[in-house]
Amino acid sequence: MITTSTPSLWRGHVLPFALLLGLLAAAALGGDYLLHRLNLVWVGRYLGIPGTLLIIGSLYYSLRKRHWVAAGDPKTLLKAHEFAAWLGSLLVLIHAGIHFNSILPWLATVAMSINVVSGLVGKFLLKTARGHVQGERERFQLRGLSLPEVEQAVFWDAVALGAMAQWRKLHIPIFIAFAVLALGHIVSIFLFWGWA
Ligand code: HEM
Repeated sequence: MITTSTPSLWRGHVLPFALLLGLLAAAALGGDYLLHRLNLVWVGRYLGIPGTLLIIGSLYYSLRKRHWVAAGDPKTLLKAHEFAAWLGSLLVLIHAGIHFNSILPWLATVAMSINVVSGLVGKFLLKTARGHVQGERERFQLRGLSLPEVEQAVFWDAVALGAMAQWRKLHIPIFIAFAVLALGHIVSIFLFWGWA
C-alpha cells in the first residue's frame, strides 16, 4: 500500500500549526470572557492600541527581508515577527470581543485572521509539504513507476500543495486590505472619539 504521509510531518508541522491557531482562538475567547466576567470590558477597547503597535512592530522583519533596513539578524527577526504578529492579533481579537456595531472593523478583523492563518501555513506547512511531495515523486520513480503513474500517485498531494501555495500568496494582498480597513477604523475612532 502507498502511504503519503509520515508521522514527523504531522508531529513536526501540522500539529504545531493547529496548536498555535487553536491557542489563539482559545486565548481570545478566554480573554474576552474574563473581561466580561470581571466587568472590565473597557480594558478591551484599549487593547486595540498595543495590538496595533505590535503588528506594526512585526513589520520590521519585512523591511529587513527586503533590505530596506540593515540592522538585525533575519532569523531572529523572523521569530520576533511571528511572535509579535501572533500576540498583536490576540490583543486585537480580545479588543474586537463580541461587540457588533459597525462593519468596517469587523472586515479588518476578518482580513487580519486570514492573514494569521496564511502566515502560519507558510511557516509550518508549505516548505515541508513541498519537500514531502518531491520525496514521494522520487520514491515512486525509484520503484520503477512511469512518469504518468508517478503523477497519478501524488495527484491529491500535489492538489493540496497547489492550494496551500495559493493560500500563502494571499499573505501580502490580504495584509494590505487589513491595513486599509484597520486604518479606516482607527481614523474614524480618533476623529469622532467614539469610545462610548
Ligand atoms: C489604535 C488602534 C485601535 C483603536 C484606538 C481602536 C478603538 C476602538 C474603539 C474605541 C472601539 C469601540 C467602538 C464602538 O463601541 O463603537 C473599537 C471597536 C472595534 N475594533 Fe478597534 N481600535 C483599534 C484597532 C483595531 C484593529 C487593528 C482592529 C481589527 C483588525 C479593530 C477591530 C475592532 C472591532 C471588530 C471592534 C468592534 C466593532 C463593533 O462594535 O462592531 N480595532 N475599536
